[in-house]
Parts: sequence; structure tokens; C-alpha cells
Amino acid sequence: MEHPVIVALDVNNQTSLEKILSKLGKPEDTFIKIGMELFYSTGRETVEKLVQEGYKIFLDLKLHDIPNTVYQAAKTIATLGVTYTTVHALGGSQMIKAAKDGLVAGSATNHPVPKLLAVTELTSISDYGLQLEQNCRLSMTEQVISLAKLAQENGADGVICSPLEVEKLRENISGDFLYVTPGIRPQENAHDDQSRTATPLQARKYGSSAIVVGRPITLASDPQAAYNAIKEDFN
Ligand code: C5P
Repeated sequence: MEHPVIVALDVNNQTSLEKILSKLGKPEDTFIKIGMELFYSTGRETVEKLVQEGYKIFLDLKLHDIPNTVYQAAKTIATLGVTYTTVHALGGSQMIKAAKDGLVAGSATNHPVPKLLAVTELTSISDYGLQLEQNCRLSMTEQVISLAKLAQENGADGVICSPLEVEKLRENISGDFLYVTPGIRPQENAHDDQSRTATPLQARKYGSSAIVVGRPITLASDPQAAYNAIKEDFN
């Protein structure tokens, strides 16, 4: 089984989207991540069109609201035909469960239900933020493990995490669970604004199920070649 390499398309308009897609190979060989900035500016039509063209899509909207609202949102997301989508685990057990139920309810019969991935603590949260703003008594690692368990117990199919967290999570979580990891840099010394990175090969060794890669592909002089090289390394 091939482990997906997902290209993060951090653009906010149709023109930039088309420009980058034209440099990335065939839709059926391409797995893309669409986030809030593109979704909020171009809407569901963009996603529907890309699915129709054959792209696999990770729709990263990080739902976080009361269970009923998240259920309705997830039910709508399921009609788009995306492969992965996200919720914040901090929304709690009932909200995670509602997201999963919504995805199941909104998926057409005989169509795969989108995989639900949970965000644990955002990587932008520092130890200071965890302890003094969230008033959390656990260490960051304990909190990430605890939220990942909560997500799994309530129907999530996996988590988004740092490649450097995967080994610890796999030690504490059993069964079939996806570990989807951003923070990937093909060369060990290239970071951009990411601080704790891994190469595709290291991510694979740590146990990542799929990786999310943005700028190392989208800003490369030949994005398709960069994408193919990363796929090869990771697999
Ligand atoms: O360009 P780069 O490879 O850093 O992009 C990584 C993508 O993964 C971006 O879309 C970023 O928002 C996302 N991401 C991340 N770290 C997280 C969660 C998501 O870099 N913890």
C-alpha cells in the first residue's frame, strides 16, 4: 500500500491554485490539502471540481463547535467526496463523535466515508500556553497522548501530529490509527518557519502514515519532480 504524500496548497485564490496544479502531475496521482484560506475564499465549488477531476483531497477545516453544529458541518463535508478532514480534539468526546456521525450520515451509500483526523494541541501552542493559558496540568506529550486517545475512543481515524511525536503515540495507542504529519523538509538543514522537522525518510521510520508537505514542493523550481522525489523517499 502506498503511503500518501499530501501537497499543502496554501493559496487563497483560483488563479494561484490553477498555477500550482498545472505544475504538479496528473490529478489521479496527486493528493492535495485545501485549508481554510482557499475554502473560505472560493467555496465548495472548487473542492467539487477538483474531486471531479480526480484529485484526492484532504480538506483541513479544523471543526470546533457544539456537537450539533459540527454534526451538520461534517454531514455537508461528506457530500464533497474528500478523503480526509479534520476536527479539534479539544472540542471533546461528544463533538468528535458528532463529527464522525455526520461524516457517516452525509456519505452516499457505497462511497467511502472521509477519514476523520483530530488535531491535538496545535504546534503553535507553547508549554507556557498549555500551562498558563489552558491551565493544563499535563506535560505537552501527556496532553497530546491523552487527546489522541480521546479522539480514537470517539471514532476518529487518526491524528495530525509532528513526525517527532509518532513513536510516543504509537507506544500508547493501539489498533489501526493514522498518523498524518506536517513539518517535513527533504533536507535536514532546511526549515523555513518550521522548527521541529523530519525528512520524508525519517518520518517513515518514526511511523508516519502520511505526510503533508507544502513549500518544499510548491516553491520548487520543478514542483512535479520535487513531489515525485518526496513520494519515492517516503515510500
Ligand atoms: O510549507 P509547509 O511544508 O511548512 O506546510 C505545511 C502545511 O501543514 C501547512 O499547510 C501548515 O499549515 C500545515 N500544518 C503544519 N503544522 C501543523 C499543522 C498543520 O505545518 N502542526
